[in-house]
Amino acid sequence: MSNPVYLAVDVPTLDGALTLADKVKTHVGGLKLGLEFFCAHGHHGVREMARTGLPIFLDLKFHDIPNTVASAMQSLHVLEPAIVTIHAAGGRAMMEEAKAAAGEHCKVVAVTVLTSLDDGDLAATGIGGTPHDQALRLAELAHAAGLDGIVCSGHEVGAIHRQWHDGFFVVPGLRPADSQVGDQKRIVTPRRARDDGASVLVIGRPISRADDPVAAARAIEATL
Ligand code: C5P
Repeated sequence: MSNPVYLAVDVPTLDGALTLADKVKTHVGGLKLGLEFFCAHGHHGVREMARTGLPIFLDLKFHDIPNTVASAMQSLHVLEPAIVTIHAAGGRAMMEEAKAAAGEHCKVVAVTVLTSLDDGDLAATGIGGTPHDQALRLAELAHAAGLDGIVCSGHEVGAIHRQWHDGFFVVPGLRPADSQVGDQKRIVTPRRARDDGASVLVIGRPISRADDPVAAARAIEATL
């Protein structure tokens, strides 16, 4: 089984990102690069990170009209990303066109409801119901649009996996059992998320901010 852990490279400089990735590359399965990284370092930065030999997950969360998203997706072909994110709220046609425009080996996964939004935030945008209900509705839409999967929390992945057996599920917000809880209220461990059906485990600070990132990555790997 390949390592499902994708390291979230939320590091301010390209040098820092490369140093971290080089250190832990034999203990993670891939690298997740977000909007912050892409806006700062662009294609060049992605190519540099790809020199580690690890698959690249571009967490760019596209949300625009179908034609624009499809064109943006085509512009990523040269980087050969393993995974790219889009917003399910962009609608079915946008998701279909994004998938059709993606590279042959690229998984396209949809963000449902951002975890930073609560009931009140959703209501203010005109959406009734809870974020959980909305996430399940958008997961169904993403499935119907032919996407590979969705991004969801460790609390939802079990329920969504039961409805979408062959879906590809990306789960962030994980903490190893022995790590600092910080401001997190409900913790899901990488192992628990994996057992519940997660395909990719996105882990950032528990590795990147550890005193010894290699030991932290190895310890997580050993629990899986
Ligand atoms: O908390 P941690 O540093 O492990 O976060 C890893 C990555 O997952 C970050 O890039 C963060 O933006 C993302 N994340 C997310 N949704 C959450 C929690 C974290 O997309 N609910």
